[in-house]
Amino acid sequence: MEKVIILDFGSQYTQLIARRVRENNVYSEIVPYNISPDQIGDDVIAIILSGGPGSVYDERPYLPDKRIFEIGKPILGICYGLQIIAHVLGGKVAPAGEKEYGFAELEIIKDSPLFRNIPDLKAQDYKGNEDTPHLTPPPTHEVRGGRSGVRKFRVWMSHGDRVLSIPENFSVIARTANSPYAAISDEKRKIYGLQFHPEVVHTEYGTEIIRNFLYEIAGAKGEWKLENYVETMIAEIRERVDGNGVILALSGGVDSSVVAYLLAKAVGENFYPIFIDTGLLKIGETERIKKFFGQLKNLRIIDAREIFLNALKGVKDPEEKRKIIGEKFIEVFRDESLKLKDKIKFLAQGTLYPDVIESTPVVGPSETIKSHHNVGGLPDWLPFKLLEPLKMLFKDEVRKIGKILGMPDELISRHPFPGPGFAIRIIGEVTEESLSLVKLADLIIEEEIKNAGLYEELWQVFPVLLPIKTVGVMGDKRTYEYVVALRAVTSVDGMTADWAKLPYEVLERISSRIVNEITGINRVVFDITSKPPATIEWE
Ligand code: XMP
Repeated sequence: MEKVIILDFGSQYTQLIARRVRENNVYSEIVPYNISPDQIGDDVIAIILSGGPGSVYDERPYLPDKRIFEIGKPILGICYGLQIIAHVLGGKVAPAGEKEYGFAELEIIKDSPLFRNIPDLKAQDYKGNEDTPHLTPPPTHEVRGGRSGVRKFRVWMSHGDRVLSIPENFSVIARTANSPYAAISDEKRKIYGLQFHPEVVHTEYGTEIIRNFLYEIAGAKGEWKLENYVETMIAEIRERVDGNGVILALSGGVDSSVVAYLLAKAVGENFYPIFIDTGLLKIGETERIKKFFGQLKNLRIIDAREIFLNALKGVKDPEEKRKIIGEKFIEVFRDESLKLKDKIKFLAQGTLYPDVIESTPVVGPSETIKSHHNVGGLPDWLPFKLLEPLKMLFKDEVRKIGKILGMPDELISRHPFPGPGFAIRIIGEVTEESLSLVKLADLIIEEEIKNAGLYEELWQVFPVLLPIKTVGVMGDKRTYEYVVALRAVTSVDGMTADWAKLPYEVLERISSRIVNEITGINRVVFDITSKPPATIEWE
């Protein structure tokens, strides 16, 4: 199958580039920036050089193997990728004086297949993109060009260093006021460089530019279709498993549910899903599992509520809570799975492509902010082989696959829910009482957000129970009860997030219902911090 490789120089947008390529029906993979050309096979139809925080002037700059420019594959350099092209092929890059960050107006000054089908911009041409959270209004913009035949549109810039002169045989195809070399090309060798980011939604015609690179320049056929991939996955799982048993820790979240649907199709009665009720999950979770997966013959539901509650007794430190929950989960899962060990040969996991990429960072060490508990970290002493059918997929693709497999929307569109559950949404000690309060608040919040039609626009929305009591008045009586913080964010991937500008009426309904319906909470506050600097979860 044809594919595009993206050399990762550490940009926060690298994964976005990969997704944009796939959205255009071309399979893409992220590879280390210094991949050897010998590892680039015939199936690779083009190479994209990502952006990155580095500079070609760093003491030890991140540079690709020069020979990738000599193997005849079309190349698109984005941001730092453009600077690499300029630097490596004989142009000149100047160290950062000032950073250019934000919108710029790009003017096309030379025709190029890269800009094919990009018309003069008219105001009504502005299209929002599915990634633009609806809660953020689209930027207004000036109408320029139009009838005069000048082709100008808005692009998103974020760079320090700038190109001073371009290599031989290259021409400038577009410029902005601050970047005279905003887009350059060597049409003969099919090497292109962009100072701006076509992959972000803020760049108008960004999708068209990527599409042009794939189809007009690299001659893509558009073979990446999820429907076909599902069939391939099912066939591959069936062949690999070969009549043996497969076990899965089913959480009810999107990823493990999609894996469950796949396995049910691929291996039928050899599939052994295990659901562990930690007591830290949403109200009604066990019933939901029964509703959606109850027909699976070997489904096991393990009631481990007491184990987790006991283990968490007296523990207040967030990292300690996470550690305990992770360990207990493994213990319970191990005990259950070993009971089945004569039948089982494989352990399935809902690992996604971003997990795979992030576990092998290419540029720089990444600091541990929180030790995420995912089943992903199951120890290798379990006597099973690993099956990770979603390993090459992004979350939005996994959701589409769920749809193809006939999963109900209620399951597909669920918000992410952290492995440690409500334990990290209770600041301080987890007790039966605190769990009950936070879960009831969660029920009300989800209901009101769904009623307001906002659920799908949000990445997550949930309560955090604070370990402080404040004074209130109800009827004529003084109350002294707990405070709940409401957290609501929009995000594309959870790596960064904006606090959601929820309508006042919705906030009001949530607040008054929580305080009126839950004895023990008399105050609701709203978290208005984005990530960074805050994280999404409070612990
Ligand atoms: P933070 O709080 O780090 O969260 O901004 C980013 C995203 O990750 C989720 N999250 C977790 N997911 N196990 C998970 O499976 C965890 O331990 C965990 N901690 C945070 C969080 O809900 C958000 O979507």
